[in-house]
Amino acid sequence: MPTKPANPAKRSTKMSAGQRAEESLRVLISHSRIRARVRQMAQEIRRDFPDEPMHLVGVLKGSILFLADLARELGGEVSFDFISVSSYGKGMDSTGEVKMIKDLDVSIEGRSVLVVEDILDTGLTLKYLLRLFEERKPKHLRVAVLLDKVERRIADVRADYTGFVIPNEFVVGYGLDYDERYRNLPDVCVVRLGPGGKTKVEA
Ligand code: IMP
Repeated sequence: MPTKPANPAKRSTKMSAGQRAEESLRVLISHSRIRARVRQMAQEIRRDFPDEPMHLVGVLKGSILFLADLARELGGEVSFDFISVSSYGKGMDSTGEVKMIKDLDVSIEGRSVLVVEDILDTGLTLKYLLRLFEERKPKHLRVAVLLDKVERRIADVRADYTGFVIPNEFVVGYGLDYDERYRNLPDVCVVRLGPGGKTKVEA
């Protein structure tokens, strides 16, 4: 007979996700709002591509939870691939330069590709990816982003499907990290540093 799990001591999910004393977190978008919106986004995508096999290209690593939930909501024929690029250093500031770390495993030629991104910030990463993918002649090329920081945009790009437009704050959770921590938080939270609670992006 399976044993009953021990009643875990009451611990804050945030602390167990690796929160440091000098960092404060505030929930911006709860997991239940995310779930509801991801379901709606999947419906919008299926409305546009009712019977099409969809090839989801996740941008590592921030998109993985979003991609996993979106894929389950999409239904129909769905395949995955992943690409890894870097534009950020260890902290909150973008270097502005996009570098390929890992390319796709399979060709996207003739396929209906949905690029799945966690967040659109300056847009430089997406601009780089769209240019790269367009050259590979997909049948359709669309973009789904969970979060959009419209105010921060530098590159002239936009997503076809957007979960939430958010203010210019550094966010973590639901796949997004700060120094590789917080990806496992169920909610999207604003992270602030220091007693003044000022984020570097606002400085
Ligand atoms: P962009 O090229 O400036 O649009 O940045 C896109 C990438 O930057 C995203 O895929 C994230 O990995 C990262 N990023 C931008 N803003 C945030 C944030 O607020 N939290 C965590 N990562 C972010």
